[in-house]
Amino acid sequence: MVATLLALLAVSAVQASPVARANTCSGGFTKVSAQDWLNKANPGWNLGNTLDAIPTEGSWNNPPVVANTFSQIQSAGFKGMRLPITWTDHFVSGSPSWTVNATWLQRVSDVVDQSISRGFHTIVNVHHDATDWADVTASGANYTAIEEKFYSLWYQIATKLACKSSLLAFEPINEPPASTQAHYDEINKLNAIFVKAVNDAGGFNPNRVLTLVGPSEDGSLTSQFFKKPSNITNPWAIQYHYYSPYDFIFGAWGKTIWGSDADKQALEADIAAVRGNFTGIPLVIGEWSAAGTTTETAARWKYSDSLIRTAAKYNTATFWWDNGATDFDRSVGKFRDPVVKDIIVQAAQGKTNSLADSTEDGNSLTQVSDAFIYHTAATTTTSPPPPSDLTATYILNGNTVSSVRSPTGQTLNKGPDYTVSGNNVTFKGPLVGRYITPKTALGPVANFTVNFSQGAALQVTLVNLGKSGLASNTSVATTATSGTDLRIPVTYNTIHQVAAVKATLPDGTCLVDTWTVYLPAIQQCRTTYGSQWDFDGASVTIKASAVAAVVAAGQTTTFVVEFYPRMPGNNATYTLTV
Ligand SMILES: *[C@@H]1O[C@H](CO)[C@@H](O)[C@H](O)[C@H]1NC(C)=O
Ligand SMILES: *[C@@H]1O[C@H](CO)[C@@H](O)[C@H](O)[C@H]1NC(C)=O
Ligand SMILES: *[C@@H]1O[C@H](CO)[C@@H](O)[C@H](O)[C@H]1NC(C)=O
Ligand SMILES: *[C@@H]1O[C@H](CO)[C@@H](O)[C@H](O)[C@H]1NC(C)=O
Ligand SMILES: *[C@@H]1O[C@H](CO)[C@@H](O)[C@H](O)[C@H]1NC(C)=O
Ligand SMILES: *[C@@H]1O[C@H](CO)[C@@H](O)[C@H](O)[C@H]1NC(C)=O
Ligand SMILES: *[C@@H]1O[C@H](CO)[C@@H](O)[C@H](O)[C@H]1NC(C)=O
Ligand SMILES: *[C@@H]1O[C@H](CO)[C@@H](O)[C@H](O)[C@H]1NC(C)=O
Ligand SMILES: *[C@@H]1O[C@H](CO)[C@@H](O)[C@H](O)[C@H]1NC(C)=O
Repeated sequence: MVATLLALLAVSAVQASPVARANTCSGGFTKVSAQDWLNKANPGWNLGNTLDAIPTEGSWNNPPVVANTFSQIQSAGFKGMRLPITWTDHFVSGSPSWTVNATWLQRVSDVVDQSISRGFHTIVNVHHDATDWADVTASGANYTAIEEKFYSLWYQIATKLACKSSLLAFEPINEPPASTQAHYDEINKLNAIFVKAVNDAGGFNPNRVLTLVGPSEDGSLTSQFFKKPSNITNPWAIQYHYYSPYDFIFGAWGKTIWGSDADKQALEADIAAVRGNFTGIPLVIGEWSAAGTTTETAARWKYSDSLIRTAAKYNTATFWWDNGATDFDRSVGKFRDPVVKDIIVQAAQGKTNSLADSTEDGNSLTQVSDAFIYHTAATTTTSPPPPSDLTATYILNGNTVSSVRSPTGQTLNKGPDYTVSGNNVTFKGPLVGRYITPKTALGPVANFTVNFSQGAALQVTLVNLGKSGLASNTSVATTATSGTDLRIPVTYNTIHQVAAVKATLPDGTCLVDTWTVYLPAIQQCRTTYGSQWDFDGASVTIKASAVAAVVAAGQTTTFVVEFYPRMPGNNATYTLTV
């Protein structure tokens, strides 16, 4: 009985052999080179944490996709759309057919249509499967089984999407983990299996653009270990991802600044090295991001502008990563930082952006960001002095200031409302006084907009600055509490973002990452966002891992929560005793 069943399965596997089922499509297909495709996809955006959520769409921080999101992203000026998709929880049978749930394939196909019907150059991939069943670094990973499943998955995806227009491109797998030569070889093999599966599926696929990947989609590893699949006849490009420098991008070790010559040279060296290894091969950075939650505003603007312009210099297209919680707020259809969006779009169009100046010296204990103007709130409300002039300084990059608008969009009067001197815009005291009275609440008050002769207009946020604070300042860390995040209610009397958290033991040594004493002053003993601390509009959180580190150290630890702007006094102390 069992033997008969196996024989039947074997026969059906042969009958179901891919080539026999290859698709034919009606209608035409506009052939396009990979370079032309990428040129037209730039700049691109990622519909992150959506179809790639586990177990399914809607499981993470985004509701199911709605077509209107594509219209909004299109109006915003993006041309490329990467659709990360995770398939792990959508298989309805095992080896050897690995059938994907037809409802899910149809959903993917429908979302692809929402994207390409609006003219987006669209990438579909296999996403978090890379760290699940397709993880070639997992202990005991069975490469034969991975290859079988990977071929079958791509054959089904490419069959379902076989007749889509040339606006649709494929990417084999997202950031496949790899750290040994055997892993690198297997990633190269997966690229080749992907190429074969896509071609076996027929339809328009033999002419479809493919963006191949190297180990981890890391630029350096890809440069060193990527091998072109020998038989490829599709138009093809290489895709890699860029999240560097780690400390700035991920809120680690108090690195809230970016933009020094050394910073720019490091970014350029990285992008130039990938180009240098792949002369003449179309390249795309399929993910990059300096997210609003983890980066300082002026530094984020500088970084984003540099990234786009440097990528363009090395003929590399870019797709901005957005997990839905960081940049585009899909529930209201607006970018949380509309300026950085404009900087990206304008830079991709070759326009020269002006940027807000900000401190680039990590040894300066006072850090300035000219994305903001700070009115220091009077400590007395009885007869406070009238607000004084406030100045924002710009990196003009050859542009001139053309106008300044009020928060409601009125053009302000040059002279009485503001003056321009070199690269400074000074907001006059009487103008500031229209927004800040003794009764005005502390925190961000109003956004002015400075427009330049070219490039993105920049917002400058007027902040009524007072001392921010925590609702309590001490508690006891015990083994019992070390498994729990410690949430401390916060009052932000400035912008609602925590800059850094310093953690030191009584003798001044760092609670964690003791080597940070060798970093510039504003980074020493600073801990890492998401690992040791977190924040939201209501609380600052000392994460369970930091509480555990205090218990392990067995010493009272002082946490200093630093607010923006980073300067002596603009912080609050919390002590965990043991
Ligand atoms: C396929 O997915 C749909 C939608 O999630 C679900 O209702 C259905 O049960 C799935 N089919 C199988 C065979 O698992
Ligand atoms: C690896 O997977 C293949 C294909 O599914 C299977 O035939 C083989 O027995 C597996 N090998 C091991 C060691 O499990
Ligand atoms: C590539 O072509 C060679 C020779 O035609 C063939 O033996 C091999 O199976 C092909 N490889 C793939 C991955 O298609
Ligand atoms: C190729 O990449 C490696 C690794 O990133 C780098 O060291 C090397 O300089 C690159 N080669 C060229 C010609 O850019
Ligand atoms: C711009 O403002 C800064 C301080 O706010 C000042 O040091 C500098 O001299 C000003 N530059 C010009 C050209 O006005
Ligand atoms: C300033 O603009 C940002 C981004 O649009 C917005 O989130 C914020 O609420 C605005 N602030 C004020 C005080 O209007
Ligand atoms: C900004 O100024 C430029 C010219 O200086 C002008 O072309 C553009 O329309 C202005 N933009 C806005 C939003 O006012
Ligand atoms: C901590 O808070 C208490 C009560 O609110 C206050 O008396 C004390 O001075 C604070 N200690 C420090 C070090 O700020
Ligand atoms: C916090 O502010 C105090 C002044 O009140 C200053 O001495 C200290 O250096 C600041 N600490 C940090 C980490 O910024």
